[in-house]
Amino acid sequence: MQDDPKAINRRQFIRNSSVAAAALGAAALTNPMGAFAAPAKTRVALVGTGIRGSTTWGMNLLRDVGELVEMVGLCDVNPDRVKVAQRWMGGKIPTFTDFDEMIRTTKPERVIVTTVDATHYQYVCRAMELGVDPISEKPLCTHDYQAQQIVDTQKRTGRKLDVTFNARHGASDMKVKELLLDGEIGDLYSVNYEEFLDLDHGASYFRRWHGLKQESGTLLCHKASHHFDQLNWWIDADPVEVTAYGRLNKYGNNGPFRHANCRLCTYKKQCEFYWDITTNKQYMELYVDCEDQDGYYRDGCLFRHAINIPDTYSVLVRYDNKVLVTYSLNATVPYEGQLIVFNGTKGRIEMRNFHRQPWEVDHESEIRLTHNFKGSKVITVDPQRGEFFEHGGADQRIKRMVFDPSMPDPLAQRAGLRAGILSSAIGIAGYTSIDTGRRIRIDEVVKL
Ligand SMILES: NC(=O)c1ccc[n+]([C@@H]2O[C@H](COP(=O)([O-])OP(=O)(O)OC[C@H]3O[C@@H](n4cnc5c(N)ncnc54)[C@H](O)[C@@H]3O)[C@@H](O)[C@H]2O)c1
Repeated sequence: MQDDPKAINRRQFIRNSSVAAAALGAAALTNPMGAFAAPAKTRVALVGTGIRGSTTWGMNLLRDVGELVEMVGLCDVNPDRVKVAQRWMGGKIPTFTDFDEMIRTTKPERVIVTTVDATHYQYVCRAMELGVDPISEKPLCTHDYQAQQIVDTQKRTGRKLDVTFNARHGASDMKVKELLLDGEIGDLYSVNYEEFLDLDHGASYFRRWHGLKQESGTLLCHKASHHFDQLNWWIDADPVEVTAYGRLNKYGNNGPFRHANCRLCTYKKQCEFYWDITTNKQYMELYVDCEDQDGYYRDGCLFRHAINIPDTYSVLVRYDNKVLVTYSLNATVPYEGQLIVFNGTKGRIEMRNFHRQPWEVDHESEIRLTHNFKGSKVITVDPQRGEFFEHGGADQRIKRMVFDPSMPDPLAQRAGLRAGILSSAIGIAGYTSIDTGRRIRIDEVVKL
């Protein structure tokens, strides 16, 4: 599945292009500040100055691709938080709490949307109506009516939309795409994707707005939209039908006690999930110091009764090229990682990513390629680590690709409306299946 079906064709894809891709990936990995000539600066505004907006698409955007981007305006519903972002970005960028006013006043060419998931569609659609090309964080949308509104608005306005699927830019994810395009395992039969989130990262979703379905569309939209997009991209086909199950096993009502948030909690000593936000200066400025404006607790209790999303998911997806996917996400496990398996006519690829696992590994990421009746080999591709690199270098790569249209795209990593809609649609179909006990067709969710 690609945004432009003519952009890359598997049968036309010859080995040379994967060599070019490897070279491109290597250049971007070793030199994330860029191996390509810089075009003119784009006037960019940003709505949603939380941690993702203020850092990755704020301070770090200017740090990483400052020669390509001029940040002209910042907007957030929280008037204090937008001022924090302004300060972090040098103190001069104009701030707004009204989106239309920001667009009218600053006249951006592009607007980056990094608000709470369920509100992305409002700004994506409004930007297009106002003649601006939006760039949306994932998930593009969290409900069926939002998906349809985005599709219809884009058709009417003809605007360009980018969706920032940084998970297409992980070093091992790119390597798998290359192996698939090279036909190493022939035509795909099936994919098994297991995502495990540990008791720190996994639990963190339940402290925040993500634990509310109305804000995040469950973890099948908020988190798994990354994975569903990767699947659509790797499989290179459209999802047709989804069946899912989900349960809330650990958080929410399952807790033995609860309070509004950790800071004021009377169970600090008993609770194995107690988390002290006061040790994090950045979070104190961005969230705690801004609480008076919206009452939002970044250190919210993960046993709140209000939590209404599962922490454990099993999903089946059928694709229009007959590929079958088994996906699971579990946010209650002792270590982080992924196990992703591709079965094809000529062999099998297994990719393992580990993080914070309690045993020694030589490489955080390992790909085993096995050919039928032939040998098997391990390919190691380690992500980049260090303060500079976000998500193993993927965030640096995607910023450059979004803002430099001349950058080659041999692995079809650029993602737009179709990719954004179809990944969200699997998540929406998934939670609808959980709620109704039915198998849900993608065309029940949205008509493209
Ligand atoms: N691709 C990735 O790896 C990645 C990583 C983290 C977050 N994200 C995405 O980035 C987005 C922001 O996440 P975050 O972690 O920064 O959350 P956050 O809670 O820190 O920030 C959200 C911001 O949106 C603001 N907001 C809420 N409703 C709004 C509205 N109606 N209008 C304007 N502003 C509004 C909030 O005040 C807050 O400042 C989410 O969509 C999330 O899915 C993506």
